Order: sequence, then structure tokens, then C-alpha cells
Amino acid sequence: MKAVKIGLLGLGTVGTGVISVLKRNADEIARRAGSEITVVAAAVRDLSKPRDIDSSGIRITDDPMSVVNDPEIDIVVELIGGDGVALDGVNKALENGKHVVTANKALIALHGNEIFKTARSKGLVVAFESAVAGGIPIIKSIREGLSANRIEWLAGIINGTSNYILTQMTEGGRNFDDVLAEAQALGYAEADPAFDIEGTDAAHKLTILASIAFGISLQFDKVYQEGITNISSEDITYAQKFGYRIKHLGLARRTDRGIELRVHPTLIPEQKLIANVNDVMNAVLVQGDAVGPTLYYGAGAGSEPTASSVVADLVDVVRTITTDPENRVPHLAFQPDTLSDLAILPIEEIDTAYYLRMGVINRPGVLAAITEIFGNKGISIETISQKENGDGKEDGEDKVSIILLTHNTKEGHLCDAIKQIEQLDTVYGSVTRLRVETLS
Ligand code: NDP
Ligand code: HSE
Repeated sequence: MKAVKIGLLGLGTVGTGVISVLKRNADEIARRAGSEITVVAAAVRDLSKPRDIDSSGIRITDDPMSVVNDPEIDIVVELIGGDGVALDGVNKALENGKHVVTANKALIALHGNEIFKTARSKGLVVAFESAVAGGIPIIKSIREGLSANRIEWLAGIINGTSNYILTQMTEGGRNFDDVLAEAQALGYAEADPAFDIEGTDAAHKLTILASIAFGISLQFDKVYQEGITNISSEDITYAQKFGYRIKHLGLARRTDRGIELRVHPTLIPEQKLIANVNDVMNAVLVQGDAVGPTLYYGAGAGSEPTASSVVADLVDVVRTITTDPENRVPHLAFQPDTLSDLAILPIEEIDTAYYLRMGVINRPGVLAAITEIFGNKGISIETISQKENGDGKEDGEDKVSIILLTHNTKEGHLCDAIKQIEQLDTVYGSVTRLRVETLS
């Protein structure tokens, strides 16, 4: 069979990884795909930028449309990011009858419903394995490997940059900004790293995972989102004292009232495998009704780990070029006309446990006032502890931190309790609140 021709949009961290992997493993990849895969063109923004790749035989251009309009090209691989030029390029590629592979989770989470509709109407593939958890084949595992199961919940560390930062803060006692700069230099972070540290990237990925797990359309706007910017080394230390690690987690859970979709920093018992997933590694725990829990682990970002998933998609697409279009795997795992309209629960309806830290004046009756508020809201306290060494003085009186863990309660009840606690004249500053997940 003649070589399948590829056009790349973007030759940055992931694009250069794709070229390297395709060149290094060319023979083996051709044997798997049933055809050679040749990159013939690549679009970049800055033609003068030096690139550490063997670009022989590749036409490099600063005009992405010249790639998607090139009749010689069979598959367009979008590795620019965002939903500007990338969205235009993908739409045009589909309009031109080309299959698409993309690593762009923002594009899929925000525009996937329309993109897949167009692709279906044209009998084209849009593959996006690398968009979630970098090198881990999590899309394929859920969409195909677990297709016998009713997925009950999934939880994952799905942002490599955040995990890198939290790990370095926990184990190396390092400063947030220094570690973020390092993650950027290593090519892990998004073009705008606020997407990583504020939870948006994880929310994009959770949107995709939830669709594939539960058979619902992509609904990014319904994901509750918190990032890691408010995590202090103090909270990391207290969490460790209680036997927990703080991880940034994406959680999607089916309940009888609807679906929980949330990304936020979470306390996880330290003996859980997922609590020990460190640095740029990602892990996704999936609970299926037949298989039980399954755990997927691997590099969540970086040049070649991500290229591993991009190239796997390319191999799949090359295989489907010769396959009956009716028998392809649906984009969101379920047949498009069978997507359900299960409700996504508002965050106030979420049921979980909490870690709370609050600064108080060390005066008799403070604890009683706080526990009374919890009691009135029906919130039960699992552990309560007072920092041994004071936090200094407030109006001449001693300040201390109180740290407590609650049992499961409704988020709405907890928010009400926090509001009342923050109004007590013995409590100063705002209450730090982190959710706790035992993942059992
Ligand atoms: P980079 O910023 O390293 O690369 C982006 C590439 O796109 C660059 O080559 C850039 O050109 C090119 N580009 C940007 N704007 C234009 C434009 N207007 N016209 C033509 N080319 C353009 O990003 P990454 O490789 O890190 O990420 C690419 C995609 O992969 C993103 O969607 C990201 O979310 C996703 N992803 C990234 C992972 C990672 O570990 N980095 C992991 C998983 C997914 P130039 O080089 O000239 O600046
Ligand atoms: N910025 C992303 C991360 C890249 O850190 O996980 C991989 O999707």
C-alpha cells in the first residue's frame, strides 16, 4: 500500500516528539499500521525558530491552511493548541475530507460535539487519545477495553504540571513559582500555565472522560473547577500529619440524582496507590460494575510520552482508512443517537468529606462555638486538632490554627457552616477548605 501522508499543525513540544517517534520507529509502526506513515508538511508560527529534529522531506510553512488544503495529505495532526487557528484548521481539514488527530483537549471539550457531528457526516475519524493523560491510553481503555461495564465513577490525576508542582512542594519543600517555571521549561505546561494551575486543563480532560464513561455529550461548562493556587505548604504538612496527601483530582461519579463532575485539590489517604503518583506522572482510577477498580498510570505530559498517544491514533486512523466506515468506534464511545441526558449535579449537591483549617483566638468557648455550628448543620466531625505552637497575637490575644476533618456531608451545608464560622468574632481570616476522597 502507498504511504499515508501526514500534515502537522504545530512543531512544538508534542509536534517534535511525533516526528522523532515516527522516524525512530518507522519500520515497526508501518508493520502495525499496514502502511508507511510519512510527514510531508508542518505548519509553525515562527519559521526562524531552531528545531531539534530531522525535518528532511518535510515542507515547513507558517500557513496552517496550506497544510489542511494540501490534496496530497490524508491525515491532519493538530498540535497547535487552543481553539483559534486550531479550530479553523480542524474544521477545514474535515471539510476537505481529511481525518484528524489532535492532542488538544480544550478544542475537544469546548467544540467536540460539533466537530464529531461534522466528522460523522463525512465518515471521517477524529482521534484524541493524547488529549487526556498524555501517554496513558485511557480513552481507548474506557471506550473499548471497558465497554462491557457500567462505569460507576472515575478519579484521576490528570494534570501533569499541577502534580509536578504539588510533588515538589511536598517532597522537596520547594516554592510554587520556581517549580511552575521548571514545569514550563520541561514542556509540561500549557501555553498559558493558568490553565494548569487553575484547573481548566483538568476540567477539559474530565469533560472528555465523563462523556466516554457515561455516554453523555461534552459539557465543559458544568464542571466544577478549582486549581492548586491556594495550596500552602502548611496545608500539605497538616494533611501529611493526618495520613493524607494533597493531589489535584478530577472526579466523575454517577449518583442516582445525576453526575458529579469536579476538579479540585483533594486529600487522599497516603496508602492509596493514587496518592503516590508523583511528579509529571498521571493516573486514572476507573470503577466499572463488572471489572471493579482498574488503575491506569503513566507520563501525563512531555514530548515523547504524548507523541506515543498521537502516533497510536495515527496507526488506528491508517487502519480505518481501509475499514468499513459503519463499523468504526464512535467518537464518544456510545452511538451518537443514544447519548443520555443524565443531569450533572451542581457543586452544592456533592457529598464528600472535608479538611478545614481556620485561625482562631485562643479563648475558652471557641471550639464549642465552632462545633455547635457544625452540629446545627448536621455535619459530623471526624478529627479535630489544634496547632501546638501559636500563630502570634491578635489584639493582644494568642492566635492558633484549628484543623479538622469532617465525615461526608453536602457541600451546600458545609458552605453555610463556613459562612457562620467566618462571622464568629473569635475566628480571623477565611477558612481553608479542601475536599477529602477515600476513593473506596
Ligand atoms: P507548543 O507551544 O510547544 O507548540 C505549539 C506549536 O504550534 C508550535 O510549533 C507553534 O509554532 C505552533 N503554532 C502556534 N500558533 C500557530 C499559528 N498561528 N500558526 C502555525 N503554527 C502555530 O505546544 P505543545 O506541543 O506543548 O502542545 C500542543 C498541543 O498538545 C496543545 O493542545 C496541548 O494542550 C496538547 N498537549 C500537550 C502536552 C505536553 O506535554 N506539552 C501533552 C498533551 C497534550 P512555533 O514553534 O513557531 O512557536
Ligand atoms: N499541560 C498539560 C499537563 C499537558 O500538564 O498535564 C498534558 O495534557
